[in-house]
Amino acid sequence: MRILVTGGAGFIGSNFIFYMRKAHPDCRIVCIDKLTYAGDLSTLAPVMEDPDFRFVRADICDRAAVYSLFEEEEPEIVVNFAAESHVDRSIEDPEIFLRTNILGTQVLLDACRKFGTERFHQVSTDEVYGDLPLDRPELFFTEETPLSPSSPYSSSKASADLLVQAYYRTYGLPVSISRCSNNYGPYQFPEKLIPLMIANALSGKSLPVYGQGLNVRDWLYVEDHCRAIGLIVTKGRPGEVYNVGGHNEMRNIDIVKLICQELGKPESLIVHVEDRKGHDLRYAIDPAKISRELGWLPETKFQDGLKKTIRWYLDNRSWWERIVSGEYQDYYKKMYGSRIRL
Ligand code: NAD
Ligand code: TYD
Repeated sequence: MRILVTGGAGFIGSNFIFYMRKAHPDCRIVCIDKLTYAGDLSTLAPVMEDPDFRFVRADICDRAAVYSLFEEEEPEIVVNFAAESHVDRSIEDPEIFLRTNILGTQVLLDACRKFGTERFHQVSTDEVYGDLPLDRPELFFTEETPLSPSSPYSSSKASADLLVQAYYRTYGLPVSISRCSNNYGPYQFPEKLIPLMIANALSGKSLPVYGQGLNVRDWLYVEDHCRAIGLIVTKGRPGEVYNVGGHNEMRNIDIVKLICQELGKPESLIVHVEDRKGHDLRYAIDPAKISRELGWLPETKFQDGLKKTIRWYLDNRSWWERIVSGEYQDYYKKMYGSRIRL
């Protein structure tokens, strides 16, 4: 099996590469990544010397670079993780989100058509469905829920999904899409809720909770997501969308309190700050289809996954301390410096 993974130096892509090396030791994996602020080559150190692994630094929007890589490597499966992935950054400056997430996906789809790739898999998100109200716990996103994205990030992901489906219908390209809930685990960039709170708490910094912290997310341990993608690309039906989530809904404030508890830090570090613009209230996935068709079920309970994640950030301080000491400082000042405290 020859697999091309885009965005493999980021959080979920790197975990997917590690998962596939274990689950399918015979596969050859080629990773293409632009190494934006969110990509870190040191993350891939465990596989760099592996003869069946190759890393190429390139932008998925660079058609010539993408085509020449397809010509050389003839991937049978392409899994597209490469994206601008942070909602807050998309609110500040949407343009790069449209470029990478939509036009980059189009370049990959064209390459798959040209070189006869057997499966193009788009790693999408539950955020394409918009949000659910807080007072209707019986409602969940199914694959039939209409797309109704709220942020520039989720709109760009929804646009890419539509393009992927159009390539299936128009050209018969064998595609699949997974729409997963919020992931957490090792190697997540500390701009996202869980690693940001762990890193801040360990550094004795305040823990900025948007609004009252009552927004709900459905958390899934990253390895469970990787296993779902592995199943979809090998056994999932072409042309299909699969929702992936673990029925693990948590309010932001409860997660932050749990992190304080696990780290033995006082809750007085928590500060409530100005809310995110257009902040989605609740995400909740119905994973019945992937369970029924592919036998997928989440394996890691949130309490265990959070403990493992915290352990990882404690054991790998150099990984995130290097990140937060660089240009991240400017990002942090820009995003949090001007946020009014509630
Ligand atoms: P991430 O930001 O950690 O990593 C993104 C990677 O893509 C980085 O390595 C970056 O260098 C690379 N990249 C960005 N632009 C590129 C370009 N133009 N060309 C090549 N590489 C480029 O993101 P993540 O959290 O690992 O998310 C991966 C995918 O999963 C994204 O498509 C995201 O929308 C989706 N997703 C994420 C979550 C989540 O909770 N993190 C949940 C559901 C879906
Ligand atoms: P995030 O990790 O950015 O994921 P997403 O917005 O894609 O769900 O945020 C998760 C939740 O945590 C979201 O409701 C926003 C909130 N949040 C905070 O309260 N404070 C923060 O500093 C961050 C980054 C997020």
